[in-house]
Amino acid sequence: MLIKICRGWEIPESEATPEAVFLNRRALMAGGAGLIGASVIGRAQAQASDPSADLYPAKRNAAYKLDREITPEAFSGDYNNYYEFGTSKSVAAAASKLKTRPWTVKIDGLVEAPLEIGFDDLARKMPLEERLYRHRCVEAWSMAVPWTGFPLASLVALAKPTADARYIVMHTFKDPAQAPGQKAFWYPWPYTEGLTLAEAHNDLAFMVTGIYGKPLGNQFGAPLRLAVPWKYGFKSVKAIDRITFTKERPKTFWEALQASEYGFWANVNPEVPHPRWSQASERVLGTGEMRPTMLFNGYGEFVADLYKDLQTERLWA
Ligand code: MTE
Repeated sequence: MLIKICRGWEIPESEATPEAVFLNRRALMAGGAGLIGASVIGRAQAQASDPSADLYPAKRNAAYKLDREITPEAFSGDYNNYYEFGTSKSVAAAASKLKTRPWTVKIDGLVEAPLEIGFDDLARKMPLEERLYRHRCVEAWSMAVPWTGFPLASLVALAKPTADARYIVMHTFKDPAQAPGQKAFWYPWPYTEGLTLAEAHNDLAFMVTGIYGKPLGNQFGAPLRLAVPWKYGFKSVKAIDRITFTKERPKTFWEALQASEYGFWANVNPEVPHPRWSQASERVLGTGEMRPTMLFNGYGEFVADLYKDLQTERLWA
């Protein structure tokens, strides 16, 4: 498909974190006040009234280690991709208006019995833990964050897919009245992503409900998002309200828009450039440091086996 839309996250590596933005944030941080301070305070107030707030902080699972510092919240919380709320990185204020309660997650498709469950009931049923994960965007910036959540495999067990099911498909809410970005008719809303069931059962596949030891802020995809850290960040769909099990591979949001650049698998590989920029290195958010990108974002020991019989597939973008 040859739609040429200017998408905020499709920028060359050299521009992935513009220096001016970076320096401006440093100045704001140094001042210790200003917009970031206001947004953090607003978030803290919203989180105090969160019906699941007592579940945080969850115990950290030491199996998931980082090779770098955790990205400060002031950076990760003010540099987001969330097209439902605009194409800039500063979507926190707009996203904070999304009503995340009540929030029902619908589970349907090839399952023993379709199910609807309130988010807070789901969170209380699941084994919550904290994990430190790297997070690598296809735009060639990265961060490292302490997510709280539960293994996707636990949700699959709750859903009970039938023997025919081969894929799990996750949909973001659709409500243009709350999410102005969804009025842009040329995007195939709702945002949809998918994994094979084998990927969904991998230990690393994580459903996220919190970050930094607190309930998830709206800009990160509250109340429920995915984290699959061996893949480019666009696979990690936010604000999920429907999960469908299918036999056919789904057409995902970015694949539907530009299949030549964003495929189904989207595994991180420094040697396979995006058609318009290199993926060899990444800019670390918060420090500006350039680091070499790692195959599978450094998670090969967990996931490489998933792909050994799939070498004819376009696994890397
Ligand atoms: N999910 C929805 N619903 N809408 C989006 O625009 N952007 C994706 C992904 N999930 C996106 C989404 C992209 S491109 C990335 S890199 C990550 O979210 C960014 O997650 P973060 O803002 O928490 O860093």
